[in-house]
Amino acid sequence: MNKSNQSSILITTPIFYPNDKPHVGSAHTLILADILARFYKVLGTNVFFTTGVDENCEKIVKASLSTGLPTKVFVDNMAENFKKAMKVLEINYDRFIRTTDEDHKKSVQAVWRNLKEKGFIYKGQYEGYYSVADETFFSKSSLVNGKAPTGAEVRLEKEDAYFFKIGTLKEKLLNFFEKNPNFTSPKNRINELQSFLKQDLNDLCISRKNNGWGIEVPDDNKFVIYVWFDALINYITVCDYPNLNNFWQGGVIHLIGKDILTFHGVYWPLLLIANDIKVCDKLMVHNWWISNEEKMSKSKGNIIDPLDLVEKYGVNPLRFYCFKENLMKHDGNFDILKLIESFNTFAVGKFSNLVFRLWVILDRNNIKKHKEISNPYFESKINNEIKKQNLSEVFDLLFEWCDILNQKIDLETAWKNPSACNLLFGETLSLIKYFTPIFPDIEAKMHSEKAVMLFTKIEYTP
Ligand code: MSP
Repeated sequence: MNKSNQSSILITTPIFYPNDKPHVGSAHTLILADILARFYKVLGTNVFFTTGVDENCEKIVKASLSTGLPTKVFVDNMAENFKKAMKVLEINYDRFIRTTDEDHKKSVQAVWRNLKEKGFIYKGQYEGYYSVADETFFSKSSLVNGKAPTGAEVRLEKEDAYFFKIGTLKEKLLNFFEKNPNFTSPKNRINELQSFLKQDLNDLCISRKNNGWGIEVPDDNKFVIYVWFDALINYITVCDYPNLNNFWQGGVIHLIGKDILTFHGVYWPLLLIANDIKVCDKLMVHNWWISNEEKMSKSKGNIIDPLDLVEKYGVNPLRFYCFKENLMKHDGNFDILKLIESFNTFAVGKFSNLVFRLWVILDRNNIKKHKEISNPYFESKINNEIKKQNLSEVFDLLFEWCDILNQKIDLETAWKNPSACNLLFGETLSLIKYFTPIFPDIEAKMHSEKAVMLFTKIEYTP
């Protein structure tokens, strides 16, 4: 994934269950993916960035029943809510896919037919436990005190069903992992995938009884297609499956949370291999935002609403906090005081202050703003880290550069030397280019005739 001639890439978020409004956890995946997509655009890469909603599942039917609305009306409303939330969070997607979209239904059924023809799908009897909260089947041995490992309720099901035959695909995927040790970021997540694969892996049950909601199994409308089989295929629907476009061929980065690692790192590659489609290139796996030591979730009542935060503080502090903490190495306790403090220290104290200090001197001396001056040292380092999707390293480099520019203002007593100040401002413009993915609104602010503070300090608002 870090070939320098990479000119087209696909960046995706998981598609969200729209049974409830987005919370800080969902906002996190969205913000990271959006920032990464914008970074790649700064590098001149042709990016296709997709997100959307995962609608064909039982939890949606359940949620719609509780509102009394027909399921389709309910999902239409929820999809709109998600789009509005994404607008507020400045998520600049190229496609918002809904799994009820016609092209998606077609591509899911086409994949099914293809696998059936190749002998990867067979009909049998399913007996096991289904958790609606996880939309996942569990075997008896994997239950913990009669519940799913996530703590969710399960129900015993015994029904005719279709299965995806894993058989020899397993070996092929193990070989793929051998040849692609950098498949996951962080790198060690691949170990989990390898050990999961090496277990006695059952064929995957890929159908459910048709209760009037979901994508029908081709030629057997007593069944609908299992929601994860359907949802994963969204990633190729957006690339015009079956004629996969350049974005799939160029490079594919899926951003996901750790809870959905095996679906993306095992079942999805298996489906792709079975279909003779190139396996995705990179899984970027982040951990969770927790609140009071628990994963944030509706059932636990510990949800933080990202839109509330944006209303109080604007969108920049939240985007900044998600980028800075990024959760690629460990879970993070979502701490609003830390969010405020880090925004004030870094974004305002270091970055915005740097821009303002220089701009004010230019204003005072009636000097026209210099055009961008590049700093090859920092730019090549940052570009390399972007290509390796190392968000923490990009963060550190941005602020190292920022600190150096602030020091130069002092060293060169720039306030007494407007032409030195102008050169520093030119370099700062190059730095700003790398900050716009995090703070998309600064571009417009930079068009101002007069010096403006890009941000001002925020204060805790109860
Ligand atoms: N619909 C499936 C994904 C299908 S993709 C083919 C799904 N949806 S979800 O709405 O439950 O989760 C979407 C994303 O939000 C996941 O990446 C998940 O990890 C992330 N988060 C949900 N709660 C989270 C936290 N508390 N913290 C960080 N991210 C977490 O799974």
